[in-house]
Amino acid sequence: MKHLIAGNWKMNGTPASAEALASGLVARAKGAAKADIALCPPAPLLALVGAKISGSVIALGAQDCHADEKGAHTGDTSALLLSEIGCRFVIVGHSERRTDHGETDADVKAKAVAAMKAGLIPIICVGETDQQRERGETSSVIERQVKGSLPDDATSANIVIAYEPVWAIGTGKTATTADIATVHAYIRKIFEDGHGAAAALKILYGGSVKGSNAAAILATAGVTGALVGGASLDLEDFWRIVEACP
Ligand code: PGA
Repeated sequence: MKHLIAGNWKMNGTPASAEALASGLVARAKGAAKADIALCPPAPLLALVGAKISGSVIALGAQDCHADEKGAHTGDTSALLLSEIGCRFVIVGHSERRTDHGETDADVKAKAVAAMKAGLIPIICVGETDQQRERGETSSVIERQVKGSLPDDATSANIVIAYEPVWAIGTGKTATTADIATVHAYIRKIFEDGHGAAAALKILYGGSVKGSNAAAILATAGVTGALVGGASLDLEDFWRIVEACP
């Protein structure tokens, strides 16, 4: 099973920069890459990036979706629409959405359910804050988020989980590989208890992953990919992460 490297561009990029980055990656990826690759640009750039990567091994992903199929939700995007314009993945429950938009585990679960119904693979994010970590609450927070955010019928084939310690996002700090291995094993166990076989479940690590630390992180037990923010905006650095996959 190949690792999955997903680039979360967050609220960055213009049509020109998106086109350059997507075309550059397509040229690198050629027919085969060491990892499965997904690009998650801001919603207004999805169609443009989708057209650039069409026919390549790179998949398209969105950064969020609404739980409803359609309706009076100004500014939101439905999972069905994302699916119809060519997305394969959608990130749900990113800590920035949980913080900036007050999304609860129940909200995240509803979005993941909608994503699955639309045929998308939700990349469901979990992770503890600095204070929670200092209070020794990492496992209880992860357990609550995994149990509360995953659809009841989640399987290792129809969802991806991303472990992103909030204190490691965009800060240059990464968790130690020992800590990452511990949390990933814990997530896999919780998943197995509630949803069955977890050996093939993809669990990405996210939080300041870059070319220089990717090899160690991606070779860590239980890590089957990365959700990359800042470094995904740099063609060379993102490609180093893809190439660092075991
Ligand atoms: P970062 O972001 O790589 O910039 O730390 C990761 C993420 O938030 O997905």
